[in-house]
Amino acid sequence: MRPPLAPKQLEFIANSTAKWNFAHGSVRSGKTIGTLFRFMQAVNDCPDSDIYMIGHTSKTIYRNVIKLLFEDPTLMVFRPFCSWSGGNKNELTFRDKKIHALGAKDEGAVGLIQGLTASLVYCDEMTLYPQSVIEMINSRLSRSHSMGFAAMNPSHPSHIIKQWIDLGLAGDKNYYSLHFNVEDNPFLDADYINMLRNSSSGIFYKRNYLGQWCLASGSIFDFFDRSVYVKPRPPKNAEYWIAGCDVGVTNNFACVLIGVSTGKYDQAGVCRWVEDEYVWDSVKQERQKTMSEYADAVQKFIEPYNVKQLYIDPSAAAFKVELRKRGISCVDANNDVVEGINFTTSEMKKGNLFVCQNCPNTIREIESYVWDPKKAEKGEDAPLKKDDHCLDAMRYAVYTHKVASYDYQEHNKRQQDYWNNRFGPRGDFR
Ligand SMILES: Nc1ncnc2c1ncn2[C@@H]1O[C@H](COP(=O)(O)OP(=O)(O)OP(=O)(O)O)[C@@H](O)[C@H]1O
Ligand SMILES: [Mg+2]
Repeated sequence: MRPPLAPKQLEFIANSTAKWNFAHGSVRSGKTIGTLFRFMQAVNDCPDSDIYMIGHTSKTIYRNVIKLLFEDPTLMVFRPFCSWSGGNKNELTFRDKKIHALGAKDEGAVGLIQGLTASLVYCDEMTLYPQSVIEMINSRLSRSHSMGFAAMNPSHPSHIIKQWIDLGLAGDKNYYSLHFNVEDNPFLDADYINMLRNSSSGIFYKRNYLGQWCLASGSIFDFFDRSVYVKPRPPKNAEYWIAGCDVGVTNNFACVLIGVSTGKYDQAGVCRWVEDEYVWDSVKQERQKTMSEYADAVQKFIEPYNVKQLYIDPSAAAFKVELRKRGISCVDANNDVVEGINFTTSEMKKGNLFVCQNCPNTIREIESYVWDPKKAEKGEDAPLKKDDHCLDAMRYAVYTHKVASYDYQEHNKRQQDYWNNRFGPRGDFR
């Protein structure tokens, strides 16, 4: 039997008849499944094929949403009537309807959306789109039967979608919204909810766990306690190291070295630690170094270690050339600042990231890292750009480097099966 929809999802499906219908709130609360179910009903009833599904990028709309139509048991009622053409086409077919998939952040998104007339749109993670794109999508819903369905996590309180939600709550019939909490999803188990609660902090906790629209303000690592997160020495044997580099020409230059343990050998999960730092403060030293001197310094700094990859400031093209001349393998870091901070703080809170005591600059920067109040007033989430070089270097490496995930239960099971097949059953494998 098809798994039932949660009461909150049913409430959304029954009441979302406005021009814009927003499901907003906590992560994993069932927003996407609920809105998608409702959207597919609307597709079925739509008289034409001017239907669009929009995601942060065209890849994420497939991965986060369209794929659910083929894989999620709750949506299996639609599955026999759906087919997907990827590649350049990016088109979902549902019965006789063609649904075009677009990415709001893709290059040319504004141009693409500008020219179309839409009867139906589905927008996933809509708070991540640039405001110009949101306004453009809104202006395309120009038919009398045009409707939009959107799922999102909250952002700052002056966001245009929050303004529309407030208009709807004040009686404007064009906007319907429903707030989802983690507790509204009865299909999550209690351990998973605890993990969600304990792994986020500050605004990420308020927005992603509590589902509140709030300003980015105050300390970013508000949970940071030296007695927990600062270690006198590396907590384990590293399997390998990675490094991150923030290249400042007129101000500090920073490189941090991070030890990584995948958990494969001690079966204790991923662990990383900032093991050492190299900082050149050109104001204090009263001298700037050249790119070539910085590259020499980094080479000397990482030479004793088995550094798998060096992640560098994507804007530092000249520095990259100097490193490559020295045979040092380096790649551009992912510089998605807010997502990177979210990931780094969450890894630290989960106990997967520590700092060693001999990194005083990194520790000081973590303790003084705050959201920029002026940018927050303008509705922008950004950290205060001050005293953040080691932190940027740490974020580049931690956020960009994907540590191989290692499932030790699966590993033990394989060992046990091997043992049983070879020598016959003999209790637990040890
Ligand atoms: N009706 C349902 N029956 C069974 N499982 C469900 C149902 N609704 C949601 N889930 C499960 O709950 C999880 C979260 O659902 P969903 O992706 O819709 O949440 P979300 O609010 O969009 O999350 P995010 O904010 O992370 O995008 C999924 O793993 C999904 O399979
Ligand atoms: Mg979702």
